[in-house]
Amino acid sequence: MPCRSFPVRMIQKRFKMVGVIAFVVLLLFGFYQVLPFADSSRPPRPADPIAQANQITQANNLGTPVSASDTLEEEIKMIEAKIRNIEQGKKSYPEVKFLTYKDRKRILITGGAGFVGSHLVDRLMMQGHEVTVVDNFFTGRKRNVEHWIGHENFELLHHDIVNPLYIEVDQIYHLASPASPPNYMYNPIKTLKTNTLGTINMLGLAKRVRARLLLASTSEVYGDPELHPQNEDYWGHVNPIGPRACYDEGKRVAETMCYAYEKQENVEVRVARIFNTFGPRMHMNDGRVVSNFILQALQNESITVYGEGEQTRSFQYVSDLVDGLMALMNSNYSQPVNLGNPEEHTIIEFARIILSLVGGDSKIIKKTAMEDDPQRRKPDIGRAMKYLGWHPKVPLMVGLNKTIEYFQNELRRSRHSERNFHMPDMLEL
Ligand SMILES: NC(=O)c1ccc[n+]([C@@H]2O[C@H](COP(=O)([O-])OP(=O)(O)OC[C@H]3O[C@@H](n4cnc5c(N)ncnc54)[C@H](O)[C@@H]3O)[C@@H](O)[C@H]2O)c1
Repeated sequence: MPCRSFPVRMIQKRFKMVGVIAFVVLLLFGFYQVLPFADSSRPPRPADPIAQANQITQANNLGTPVSASDTLEEEIKMIEAKIRNIEQGKKSYPEVKFLTYKDRKRILITGGAGFVGSHLVDRLMMQGHEVTVVDNFFTGRKRNVEHWIGHENFELLHHDIVNPLYIEVDQIYHLASPASPPNYMYNPIKTLKTNTLGTINMLGLAKRVRARLLLASTSEVYGDPELHPQNEDYWGHVNPIGPRACYDEGKRVAETMCYAYEKQENVEVRVARIFNTFGPRMHMNDGRVVSNFILQALQNESITVYGEGEQTRSFQYVSDLVDGLMALMNSNYSQPVNLGNPEEHTIIEFARIILSLVGGDSKIIKKTAMEDDPQRRKPDIGRAMKYLGWHPKVPLMVGLNKTIEYFQNELRRSRHSERNFHMPDMLEL
């Protein structure tokens, strides 16, 4: 019996084994179907490179073999997409008018990263001109023109005008020079070089390329005036060896050079005698009356008046000055023109006005008068009104409030990344 039942059991066992093997094979086949690399009916690759890159990362995590060149190519695509997103999301420029080639001018502004220069840059850029700024950043800041960097109509050159410059331009606004007493007295020889050698270099450039040059001169050419208000025919009362002489005499000789180039070389020149100007982007701590008073009041410090405070000044808002500079540049008038606000106040009155606008409990204190400080300063703007149709428009209080707001924002900054842009606004355009 045992020998008859043996083959039957063997056959039964083999059937069982075949069944188990078939089951295991079916099971493995099932697993194979759910694994991602086995699915031939997966959707095609998405077009978005970031989604592609994410898929590759997932696949890699599952240990799927992906070739090195594929991975690299996909990663490059992902980085490119990210850069495109950043570019699209970040840099935008104020709206700029389109000028045809015929009307668009190539304009150089020396000292264009400074206080006045940067406002002039804004205006000329918005009008659709091509603007090149040349600055050595002695008192200017890249931040003042940062909002134009990268624009196709804008160029910023780090250059000291004491050295010659060779570029092609149609107009030159020559503003490069330290302007506040502590800045121009810091290195009097450099101040002299900038106003003499620098001006010769710019006049030489104007002569070579037949450009028109406007010199930013100053009311300081009148010194401590004996005539009041000051008109352009007044020759001035300047101490040629005093602490301010590097600036006052530097500007006087710069004017002389302009008219020598006009007479001898037929260079078209314009000379603006600028009176005290204020506004956003003025330097903090540069020792000018308006910035000193605002800063002191904002920080609840004593407001310092030098002397008795009875000396007078008249302050214009920066957008009025920019109007005047452009009107002069584009006029047919080549004699010097005063640009300033004839509204005259004593220094002590200014201190009180600023205190009332800022608030707080600062005290006004008097300190020893400064050497050669002019006692009276008020422009006669009859010439500007007659030949340029120009007069200042921005009321003192409006300009002061804008400047106070700018200084407040400056003081609030505690990190470099906290920017205090002063973007051009409609009031100033
Ligand atoms: N702001 C005023 O109240 C006032 C009054 C009268 C005249 N101005 C004249 O207007 C012009 C601009 O004055 P601001 O108030 O804007 O002064 P600012 O100091 O803000 O600007 C002067 C600019 O010239 C640059 N600069 C100086 N030396 C240079 C050099 N050698 N090469 C290249 N760049 C140089 C500075 O870095 C700065 O950007 C000056 O010529 C100044 O004399 C200004």
